[in-house]
Amino acid sequence: MTTPPEEFFAWRQELFAVGLDQFSFNNVGNPYHHSHIPFNSHLFEKELINRFGTVYGFSSDNIWGFLTNSGTDSNMHGLYMGRTLLKSQTGVMPKIYFTQEAHYSIQILRDLLNLEWVVVATHQDGSMDTDDLERQMDANSNYPALVVATIGTTFKGAVDSIDGIQAKLKNRASYLHLDAALFGGYLPHTSFASDLWHEIPDQGTGKKVKRYDSIAVSCHKFFGFPSPAGLFITPRTNFEAFHAQFGQVHESEYILQVPGTITCSRDAVKPAEFYFFSSASSFTKQAADARAMLDNAAYLLKEMVTHYGHLHPVRVNPQSNIIYFRKPSDAVVNRYNLATMGLTIDGQQAPCAHVVVMPHASKGILDRFLTDLGKNEV
Ligand SMILES: Cc1ncc(COP(=O)(O)O)c(C=O)c1O
Repeated sequence: MTTPPEEFFAWRQELFAVGLDQFSFNNVGNPYHHSHIPFNSHLFEKELINRFGTVYGFSSDNIWGFLTNSGTDSNMHGLYMGRTLLKSQTGVMPKIYFTQEAHYSIQILRDLLNLEWVVVATHQDGSMDTDDLERQMDANSNYPALVVATIGTTFKGAVDSIDGIQAKLKNRASYLHLDAALFGGYLPHTSFASDLWHEIPDQGTGKKVKRYDSIAVSCHKFFGFPSPAGLFITPRTNFEAFHAQFGQVHESEYILQVPGTITCSRDAVKPAEFYFFSSASSFTKQAADARAMLDNAAYLLKEMVTHYGHLHPVRVNPQSNIIYFRKPSDAVVNRYNLATMGLTIDGQQAPCAHVVVMPHASKGILDRFLTDLGKNEV
């Protein structure tokens, strides 16, 4: 609910003044490739992906991506790329591994891509049980593994361990996609930034090792971009291997390039507008928002534990801006638009609700919420 800064609307005006959004712009094609269709915003799109790629610790010479329609769209491209690469490398269709805590859109994409789902168990906090992942992959060892890790599950805010998963993927044909729809926006600006780094130095050799294959982040969640959009980022080398296969799937002579994106026509306005969020000053603001958000989440938890311990409030890790608890009165649920779900809490099945502490949720708003929790409402 935070309105973007005035400078964002000034930037919009500047784009409008040069004609963007006044006639049919179209970002069809690969933003990293010369386009024969003149009215696009590929330069902005490429630059913003490069900047966010650097934020996520990709090598600056090994970044590819584009601005998608949403987190779900970014996930779709990650899973399609993973399926294509694994099938071409092994000749066998992969199976897909994710937990029940992953976003429901992954289930839809699994169905769309006709992949068999191997359900991986979770720990108490909702994160992936990597020992179970190993067991399940051993039981399906004739199939490559397309693994989806969630960095910030939708209801509990659990973070799947990238390094824990990678350790189990050693010597297997695999592809690891990260769904970091919400947390991916703010973690880079916190002390947990390295959690999302694409590469880290190997402890023995010092050589950089890749931690995952692609990442999806929503633009309308943490960043507060006014309409749905998503970041999709992968190493350029992954893209090139994918591109070679993708080129065999369709005849794209008509646009004089193999685009690399599933959708043909793509919005040109959003990348030019979202470019605003990739500037140094915007990153500074994002860092301040991230800090305030995590501080406020810690404050809400402390106050709830002190005053409303009977609701069993839980924050599963310090990266999370989510607190979940036993469902309060319907009056509070409706007033604050709380999402609810049946969960096992303290060994018992109970209806629960969660609060996602976003940048607009100041201490004042949280205090009002805390006061409302104490009212005798139904
Ligand atoms: C973990 C996770 N993944 C994916 C999505 C879907 O993202 P979008 O709404 O941008 O399609 C969400 C949205 O809530 C989410 O929480």
